[in-house]
Amino acid sequence: MNNRVFTVGSLIPGKIMLKPTQVQVRVPSESPKTEEINVEQNGKMYEIHPVKGKLLDAALAQGKQINYKCRKGTCGQCTVKVLSGQGLSPPNDQERKKLKNELANGYRLACQAEIL
Ligand code: FES
Repeated sequence: MNNRVFTVGSLIPGKIMLKPTQVQVRVPSESPKTEEINVEQNGKMYEIHPVKGKLLDAALAQGKQINYKCRKGTCGQCTVKVLSGQGLSPPNDQERKKLKNELANGYRLACQAEIL
């Protein structure tokens, strides 16, 4: 094992060549989704920044006052119309049961729709 001690004097440029350490930096190939999700509820528009989890939780955490009650997909109070934005989960059983044909018109239950 090489136990050389380097002093300040031994680090004078040109005296000793230290090999630079190789550092690997991983750069993500895709940038994270940043497209806002725009929804409407009771005539009010809300712009929600996509954060993984329930659409309702993201909206509330961002100060959007979306109506809700049960959080179980049964009352329908959290129904929103998705105007733009992608990255939501497909409708689950509660949404299909509660919203029926309204799903085709862009309506979702904010407490059930997941931001992926
Ligand atoms: S809060 Fe009741 S269905 Fe979403």
